[in-house]
Amino acid sequence: MANPTPESPAGKTPPPPPSKLSLSQALFKILKDPDPADSDPQKVVLRRRRFVIASVLGVLGVNFLMFLRFFFPRALYEPKTRFRIGYPSDFGFGVDTKFQNQYRIWVVRNTEGIFVISAICTHLGCTPDWKPSENKFKCPCHGSGYDPEGINFEGPAPRPMDRAHVELDPEGQIVVDLSHVYRWPKGEPSQFGDEGAILRNV
Ligand code: FES
Repeated sequence: MANPTPESPAGKTPPPPPSKLSLSQALFKILKDPDPADSDPQKVVLRRRRFVIASVLGVLGVNFLMFLRFFFPRALYEPKTRFRIGYPSDFGFGVDTKFQNQYRIWVVRNTEGIFVISAICTHLGCTPDWKPSENKFKCPCHGSGYDPEGINFEGPAPRPMDRAHVELDPEGQIVVDLSHVYRWPKGEPSQFGDEGAILRNV
């Protein structure tokens, strides 16, 4: 036979002692069963205590995450601006587009030598398409057209596309440096003949 439940002097069953809850348990209980109609003062105090504990733990948790974030700096890893593209003999006469996706450049060989065009439209920066059948670059954004050497001849582009610095390394490979470009601003002298803008006699 089971023992009767002990009763308080007033004849009422005493409430169970407050249990220790984790942060997630406390939050879950508050959200799951707030029971606003429950006006028992002890339960109200208990709920408030849990809410305060959950808030404090939440603030401490956020601060801890911010502390951890300190060890992971918000670095922006830019693509390389200086790289090798192979030997001059790898490039035949005309426009070579094989590095367009990787480095956003075209390699061009003409009667003077080899140079590298930065594949950025000088209007607003879109990447033009090489149209072999039309022998020109065509920008899909606003229709600027450039000849095979990147010289603008139609549309709103204000000047030819820039060319990247090129040189040969000790092994004879072409090294491209996109951080150093040569321009031909409208109404100003062209830099396309400068040392480093083209590899001659290769
Ligand atoms: S961005 Fe190329 S024409 Fe406007």
